Amino acid sequence: METLLLSEKQLEIAVQLIKGGEVVGIPTETVYGLGADASDENAVRKIFSAKGRPADNPLIVHLADFSDAEKYTSYIPELAFKLADKFCPGPFTMVLPKNDNIPLVTSGGLDTVGIRIPSHPIMHRLIELSERPIAAPSANISGYPSPTSAQHVMRDMNGKISAVVDGGKSHFGVESTVVSIENDNTVRILRPGCVTKEMILEVCDVIVDKAVISGLESNEKASSPGMKYKHYSPCADIVMIESDLNSFIEYVGNHYGDNVYALIFDGDEKNFPYRYMTYGKDSNEQAHLLFQRLREFDDIHAEKVYVRTPSPDGVGLAVYNRLIRAAGFEVIRI
Ligand code: TXA
Ligand code: MG
Repeated sequence: METLLLSEKQLEIAVQLIKGGEVVGIPTETVYGLGADASDENAVRKIFSAKGRPADNPLIVHLADFSDAEKYTSYIPELAFKLADKFCPGPFTMVLPKNDNIPLVTSGGLDTVGIRIPSHPIMHRLIELSERPIAAPSANISGYPSPTSAQHVMRDMNGKISAVVDGGKSHFGVESTVVSIENDNTVRILRPGCVTKEMILEVCDVIVDKAVISGLESNEKASSPGMKYKHYSPCADIVMIESDLNSFIEYVGNHYGDNVYALIFDGDEKNFPYRYMTYGKDSNEQAHLLFQRLREFDDIHAEKVYVRTPSPDGVGLAVYNRLIRAAGFEVIRI
């Protein structure tokens, strides 16, 4: 069956589909999600099957307000309330101990659940109207770059889900920051996002999990199941180059050929001698554009893409984290 593309005015149709146990593509301020009733095991299984997602990779549960978190968790530490005051609603997910209202299918077999309060008005409305906790992973095929427009979702999910609500382009463009609570005054960043380490440091201490910027050794256990899977990869082979612009140009020149491209910063393109796309001039723009560009490289059948490495500070850490996974941890330092 063909998937429907709904305008936001048709939100009521999406609400009925969610209440009826179906999966709907939904806009959020980070990326598009594949939403279904988090408390309905069969609905959640449909999400895993549409994405081709491994069953042990848990889904984030989206609520309208942090005060609803008590319904789905067994314990909420004081620090979680402090963080929620500051960062909810927004691109921020906290891993908390779950209770029986969240089935193990949703939590990938874990005894914890990621709770997020999205700020996108359409998503917020959808949660309120459906009166359900909404489980939603990013709406891409497992392993592929996340979708930042309804058209991206249609491309990956047409025929596999019931409908996509078109809420325009995603504002941030990378997925939420995921943290676990380490102790009374410390969180661990499991996945960096637009709520940055620097922002969280204004509330408490922060540990950045080692897997955020490097690959796991084969004998290491992942703090978050998502860390161990291949991620964000387009069909093209992505290679990060950490160097100044002149060395980058020289390197690309020495490795140039058919279907080879560069992904460079805005401002690099003057006299740039090879095929390229740009992805913004600062970390916020790079976050907003990265997944769209990775998908565009596939549209033009790029086979190899050399990427200017972003600054890993602030929101840049999220961009760096997505790119290094897209590149299979291949970074060339010159
Ligand atoms: O911005 C976002 O977070 C988007 C939108 C749709 O809300 N959702 C999203 O979900 O990115 P997903 O499933 O693509 O990524 C969630 C990540 C995965 O890497 C997963 O392993 C991790 O969060 N995660 C979820 N629940 C967890 C838990 N209980 N413990 C540890 N990691 C968890
Ligand atoms: Mg994802």
